[in-house]
Amino acid sequence: MRHNYIVTVKWIKIAESREELHFSADGTAHAEADGKKLCIISYKEELYACVSKCPHAGGMMADGYIDAVGNIVCPVHRYKFDLRTGRNISGEGYYLKTYPIEERQEGIFVGIKTGGLFGG
Ligand code: FES
Repeated sequence: MRHNYIVTVKWIKIAESREELHFSADGTAHAEADGKKLCIISYKEELYACVSKCPHAGGMMADGYIDAVGNIVCPVHRYKFDLRTGRNISGEGYYLKTYPIEERQEGIFVGIKTGGLFGG
C-alpha cells in the first residue's frame, strides 16, 4: 500500500488592514488564525508571522522586540530567531515556527499548512 502525504496551504484572513492589528512600538502584534495564536511582526515595511509562544519556555513573542538586524528576540531569556526561517540565531538549538503572510487588497492573510495521509 502506498501513502501520499498531501500538504495544502489554507490562507486565513487575520485582519482587514495593518491598523486593525494594533502593532506595538516594537512592531509586534497578537493575532489568531484557525484557532492558532500568532505573533505578527512589522519590520522595515514587511510583515512576518510566527507562533505566539517561544519554543524554549513559552515566552510571548509579541512581547519581545526586533533587534538591529531583524531577528525577533524573546522577552524571557532573549533567545533570537530569524524572522524569515525561524532559525535560532543565538544558537540554543530551538526552532520558531513561522508562517507565510500576505497583504492583499481584501486584507491580511496567513497561510496555514494542512495535510493528511491518503492511502493509494
Ligand atoms: S522562553 Fe523564550 S528564550 Fe526562554
